[in-house]
Amino acid sequence: MENLHQERVAVTAVNPNMRSYEETYSSFQFEEVEKQFSWYETGKVNMAYELIDRHVHNGLSDKIALYYSDNARDEQYTFADLSKQSNRFANVLRKLGINKGERIFIFMPRTPELYFSLLGSLKVGAVVGPLFEAFMESAVKDRLLDSEAVAIVTTPALLGRIPRSELPSLKHIIVFGDEVEAGEGIVNFSSEMAQASEEAEIEWLGREDGLIIHYTSGSTGKPKGVFHVQNAMIQHYYTGKVVLDLKSDDIYWCTADPGWVTGTSYGIFAPWLNGASNVIRGGRFSPSDWYNTIQKYGVTVWYSAPTAFRMLMGAGDDTVKQFDLSSLRHVLSVGEPLNPEVVRWGLKVYNQRIHDTWWMTETGGQLICNYPSMEIKPGSMGKPLPGVQAAIIDDSGNELPPYRMGNLAIRTPWPSMMRKIWNNPSKYEEYFRLQGWYVSGDSAYQDEDGYFWFQGRIDDVINTSGERVGPFEVESKLVEHPAVAEAGVIGKPDPMRGEIIKAFISLREGYEASEELKQDIYKFVKEGLSAHAAPREIEFKDKLPKTRSGKIMRRVLKAWELSLPTGDLSTIED
Ligand code: WT7
Repeated sequence: MENLHQERVAVTAVNPNMRSYEETYSSFQFEEVEKQFSWYETGKVNMAYELIDRHVHNGLSDKIALYYSDNARDEQYTFADLSKQSNRFANVLRKLGINKGERIFIFMPRTPELYFSLLGSLKVGAVVGPLFEAFMESAVKDRLLDSEAVAIVTTPALLGRIPRSELPSLKHIIVFGDEVEAGEGIVNFSSEMAQASEEAEIEWLGREDGLIIHYTSGSTGKPKGVFHVQNAMIQHYYTGKVVLDLKSDDIYWCTADPGWVTGTSYGIFAPWLNGASNVIRGGRFSPSDWYNTIQKYGVTVWYSAPTAFRMLMGAGDDTVKQFDLSSLRHVLSVGEPLNPEVVRWGLKVYNQRIHDTWWMTETGGQLICNYPSMEIKPGSMGKPLPGVQAAIIDDSGNELPPYRMGNLAIRTPWPSMMRKIWNNPSKYEEYFRLQGWYVSGDSAYQDEDGYFWFQGRIDDVINTSGERVGPFEVESKLVEHPAVAEAGVIGKPDPMRGEIIKAFISLREGYEASEELKQDIYKFVKEGLSAHAAPREIEFKDKLPKTRSGKIMRRVLKAWELSLPTGDLSTIED
């Protein structure tokens, strides 16, 4: 433990305009940030206005807001362009009669049209629900049903995964693609956009009005709809400054898809609130494609995830040498523990410190981070955001001293804290069960310098390649397979992905364990739920360990897997 805590990476390029962490902490007031936004003068606000139109009015009309490319397209849009395109989409929605507070889902791969749709939806005051394009029918259905979405924007390829007849609230499907024919409930994105005006009225909102819903997984039940409000922009703007360190001339690239919270809070909100040029690269991950993206645009600030950095590391130092990455000046990571080895490698090959940041879908924005002004201790998530109080507490809410492991908790509130779990007040309250604290579900400890060290999840939630997967959702899908009697799902440690999904399965009468059956079951989950939720490893068992009340004991499965003692078995069936 000693060596681990002694390693330090000094500040190599301190931002000259930035005060030290300690100075910022002692003087920081979130209220100062609030003066940036419309509500300061009018009492009303709209995220899309603050992201785009505010800059148009402040002389940045012609600045490139979005650099988009994939294997087929290569485009640029200024803030003025995005203002007009989002106005058009807002008018398309107005024509359909969509109102403030209604839920609009966006289910498409990253293209400029995704961003026009998202911004336009915000302009009419709708609450946006972004969906990852890899979701299959049941994942899409659960989310649209729960939130009673009235409209969805999608592409012809994904249309078949929207079970319209089972979604009574869904009135409009807006389809972006050439071969779309408008019809009952089907709207052609391009032809409607072409007819719509470039001018639109903005729906002015209160700061506690809705902004976005991100569905995320817990250990039990269906995914939870984490609801965020306009007020979150304070945190997005401020962390964009002090964590991402965004300056007006930065070319910023966040590699996350907006289907995950990183792709909205830090792929849309933080960069555009700060007026930065934002790079979006469509298509699949490959090391040379990514390095080429940095080189092509001259990316200066780069936000990605440990699993990607590990894959880049795996691709070798020679791949790095084929590209000019000298534009990079600030690199960050989120989603899962950032291995010290990756930090050391980043220093060697990129000549950059990789700054780990910790937060969650529920927190809406970064909370514990390594700041550009601060020494990095490789393996630590860093320190709380100035203005935010984090602590390690026991199960009664008592704060624990340094090096004692416990619940990572945050003093409530902070500006981007979720405001509810859609349709599920009791789930919401669980997070706040200890007076005055938000209980994250992560375990961690703090060292004597106030740095936080992540230890693991307290519940059974799996983190595979930085994506949160609820074991219950996978188990539910597995038992829909005709051969599966019962299933228990755990995260199994994996050097590249952090964890992979492993399923323990008992078969129904008449089914034989075989390699083919494993593949069939894998495919069943992949096609029914999503690829990232499908179990890469399957083990057949005659019987699964269960409590007397019939609950599968994932803890025991995990102990089997890791050859650890199984612990207290007093509640086991037999
Ligand atoms: C969970 C939240 C917020 C963006 C991406 C994930 C894990 C997140 C770190 C980190 C170790 C991390 C935690 C957390 N996590 N960042 N820097 N070090 N673990 O959002 O899907 O809501 O997942 O991801 O376990 O609770 P999410």
